[in-house]
Formats: sequence, structure tokens, C-alpha cells
Amino acid sequence: MTLDTDFVRSQFPAFSVPELCGQAFFENAGGSYTCGAVIDRLTRFYTTRKVQPYAPYAASRLAGEEMDDAHARLAAILGVERDELSFGPSTTQNVYVLAQAFAEMMTPGEAIVVTNQDHEANSGPWRRLAARGIEIREWQIDPETGHLEPADLEELLDDSVRLVCFPHCSNVVGEINPVTEITALAHAAGAFTCVDGVSYAPHGLPDVGGLGPDIYLFSAYKTYGPHQGLMVIRHALGSLLPNQGHPFNGDALYKRFTPAGPDHAQIAACAGMADYVDALYAHHIGAEAEPAEKARAVHDLMRAHEISLLAPVLDAVSTRTSVRLIGPAEAEIRAPTVALALERPGAAVAADLAAHGVMAGGGDFYAGRPLEAMGVSPEKGVLRLSFTHYTTAAEIDQLLAALDAVL
Ligand SMILES: Cc1ncc(COP(=O)(O)O)c(C=O)c1O
Repeated sequence: MTLDTDFVRSQFPAFSVPELCGQAFFENAGGSYTCGAVIDRLTRFYTTRKVQPYAPYAASRLAGEEMDDAHARLAAILGVERDELSFGPSTTQNVYVLAQAFAEMMTPGEAIVVTNQDHEANSGPWRRLAARGIEIREWQIDPETGHLEPADLEELLDDSVRLVCFPHCSNVVGEINPVTEITALAHAAGAFTCVDGVSYAPHGLPDVGGLGPDIYLFSAYKTYGPHQGLMVIRHALGSLLPNQGHPFNGDALYKRFTPAGPDHAQIAACAGMADYVDALYAHHIGAEAEPAEKARAVHDLMRAHEISLLAPVLDAVSTRTSVRLIGPAEAEIRAPTVALALERPGAAVAADLAAHGVMAGGGDFYAGRPLEAMGVSPEKGVLRLSFTHYTTAAEIDQLLAALDAVL
């Protein structure tokens, strides 16, 4: 079974607006197009339900029901319990709040492991805790390949480590890290894990329950949804960490680490992400199934399509002498987020690509640490070509022709 990209693209209004016609979108890691189901729900909420939810009048009751629907359906897709899923303003802010909670729970001298592969969001807030007496240990990537080696983590683990933070895949290296294996190492040493899934989730919503981390974060605006940060915190850890919300909200796990007032409309609209999974499943497979099963099948369809398109891109760029491909050249082990270090600054090449109808980005993408570790100046930055399952073979051809013209 292969992904029907005509059907997929019919689910995204962006593909039928004249302004974007002929423009091949290769900056999806910065933020994806939004699926129609999300846009429809957001519009409906703002037009007919924009009242304080959970009051007894009809508009309010419906508003609350829609928020609950999003919560329950996405938790089921992710393979976790409903209250283990929280909605916050962004992943960066969610990590920041978590770091405050860990700082309150930990005692000086205890340690947190961070990587130099992460986006700053899952790195800086933890590193700042050094000023509060927490020891920060850095799990370092291979400076040539960007690979994060689990055996190197073992060297850093001992009784004082309470938390290991790492990305499911980095937004510049692209290699998919073995979350379950790393979590098992951390757990064996008595530490929790916090996984930044922002660069992975757009390529198929993961079975977080099955993968096993204690915390898993991703951003809905990069996953066909609205501007929300989704965060899974498993019960065992969530009840141990001190509440960061209002004291009277402390009994609800999904409120403990999102102190800001919830964005009602955007949470409700997140149910559109579940609608989209359902629509893909119904179109390609059809029979009824549990949400997690549907999500798994949709994930595999997306990944297979992406891998088939990624292979020729990796082949084309890795054979050019003027190009340094960041991360592995094998499509199966990475996300289609392809950073290239070039002679010219990444942003300048991205500007040239725009003239060929290719929307791409250049810069450091807040991933200065991995770039520096690999000897790439963050100021000069990389060209990043990132796509998802809605990208077509014709767009890949357009990209490769444009690269031929500008490199
Ligand atoms: C890998 C990764 N982690 C975290 C973030 C931060 O997400 P947010 O914008 O929701 O704070 C980004 C954003 O680009 C990212 O690419």
C-alpha cells in the first residue's frame, strides 16, 4: 500500500490556493501547512463557540466538549492516558516550565544529562539550572557524523543523574535516535528521560506509550495543527514533580505543568489532527480500528513515502563535492530534514532557490550547538531542505533541478 498524495493534498487548503501554486515547500521543519480539518475547527470555534468553556449554556458546553475531544483523541493516538497529555503555548515554554519543576525537586549536586545535538529548546533551560547547583553533563555527538552514541551515554550515567534529555531526531542532523534503548539505559541508572519529538512527530505521530520515555514533547504547528506545544508526562514522574500551576489545579496532571491559561480554540482545533489521521486511515485502509492502531498504520504510510522521496535527495547531495551533508546519507534512519553546509551562507542559497519556486530556509535553526560541534559556523548557517509526506516526486524533481542551478 502506498500513500495517495492526491488525496493527502486534497486535505490541505494550501495546495489549492493560487498564491502557493507552483511553489514547492521545503521548510516544513520550520512549520508545516495546516490541514483543513484543523482550520475548519478553528474557524468554527472562533465563530460559534468563542465563550468561556465548561459553563452550562450550549455554546460553552460545546466549546468544552471540543477541547475534551482533542485531549482524549490525541492521547489515545499517542498511546497514553488522557491526563498524561498537556497543551501549552509552545515546546520551548513547556520545557522551561519543566526545568523549573525539576529545579525544585532536585538537590544541588544531582545531575542532568543534556546533548549537544538538541535544538536550544531542550537544552538551554536545563543548562541554566547549573546556576542553581545542578550538575549538567553533556552527551556529545560525533563531530563528523552528528551521531549520538548510546554507549557514550552509559559513561555519563551514575546515581546522581535524575534526568536525560535528548531529541527523537535533531532538526539539523535528522538521524532518528533509539528512544526506547536510550530510555532503558537511563531508567537502569534511576534517571527519567525527556524527549524532544518536535522534528520527528510531523513524520508520523509516535506511539509514545510504546516508546517509553517519561516526557515527550512536540509542536502541533509543525504537525499540521495550530500553534500549540503538546507534552506527554507519564504519571509516575508527573506526580513526583512539584506543581507549577495554581495550587487548586495541582490535582489535575494535565494542568500541573502548563501554568498559562489554556488557548481554548487552538486546543479544540487540535482534534483536527486526529480527524486527519482518521481520514488517511479511512482512505487507505478503511476498516475500523483503535486510534493507536490507525495512527501506527498512518505513521508507516507516511514514513514509507518520505523514505522513497528522500533517497534520491540524499544521493544527489552527498555526491557533490561542494556540499557537506549533515547527518547520515541513508534515508531509512533519518527524517527528511536535510541540512547542507555549503561554501556560501545557507540563507543566501535559500534566497536563490526562491527564484526557482522552492521555499527553503537557511540559518542555524536554533541548533547552534550541533552545528558548532560539527565545525559549521552558526553565523554562516546551513541550507535546510525539509519535507513531509505531502511532498510529491515532482516537487523533489523541482528541488533537484533548482539545486543544480544554484549550487
Ligand atoms: C527540534 C525542535 N525542538 C523544539 C523547537 C521549539 O518548538 P516551539 O517553537 O514549539 O517552541 C523547535 C522549533 O523549531 C525544533 O525544531
